[in-house]
Amino acid sequence: MSHDRSHDAPAAADAQSPTPPADTSRRRFLQSAAAAAALGATPHLHAQQTASSNDSASEPANEPASAPPAVPAQPVQLTINGREYALHIEPRVTLLDALRDYAGLTGTKKGCDRGQCGACTVLVEGRRINACLTLAVMHEGQRITTVEGLASATQPSVIQRAFVERDALQCGFCTPGQLCSATACLSEFAAGTASAATVDVRTRPAQLSDAEIRERMSGNLCRCGAYVNIVAAVRDAHSAGA
Ligand code: FES
Ligand code: FES
Repeated sequence: MSHDRSHDAPAAADAQSPTPPADTSRRRFLQSAAAAAALGATPHLHAQQTASSNDSASEPANEPASAPPAVPAQPVQLTINGREYALHIEPRVTLLDALRDYAGLTGTKKGCDRGQCGACTVLVEGRRINACLTLAVMHEGQRITTVEGLASATQPSVIQRAFVERDALQCGFCTPGQLCSATACLSEFAAGTASAATVDVRTRPAQLSDAEIRERMSGNLCRCGAYVNIVAAVRDAHSAGA
């Protein structure tokens, strides 16, 4: 019987230098790859640690962010109730804070400090504005009127008198703003300015209706709810020619 050696030779070679099973060689490969990766990663890790330790040496951990540089105060000249006020204030100071904290005119009240209540209403060049929403530096050279400037030296203004006669206040906190607003409201109506309640903007009504007063005074809130008497006071002042 013939014997084919060509088929036996590999078998003999296998017997002398056995090839490891496939799963063993795969395990070795994975082990050496992991070792190489660890060796390669170590210097990088070391470098990171060194860098971070160097950083921590130069920059202490948890150091607070440095504050932005302060904007220096500057001279601001305001004309309030016919008087000149030379103030030294930061440009970010609102007109409301300038009036109350720097000029000492505390009649103007701070309610919300965000333009919602109208307690801070003052007149600038005869127009009403919320003093909490504007910066004092923007009003140099303009005529500013606060509640302290509505009356003459000896007499309350017509609108102030009407508020007293109509008992148009309870706690009084909103009243300075209401008085300034009512003063401008009557001037605006006299100048023919329409409001959202004006029925026909092409004609100017002779009388200020209660609906017009409510609409025109709607920017001034009263927590005590004295609205009925406030409207009556504005109506009276209008009838008296204010
Ligand atoms: S304090 Fe200015 S609107 Fe309220
Ligand atoms: S009177 Fe008190 S908030 Fe108007």
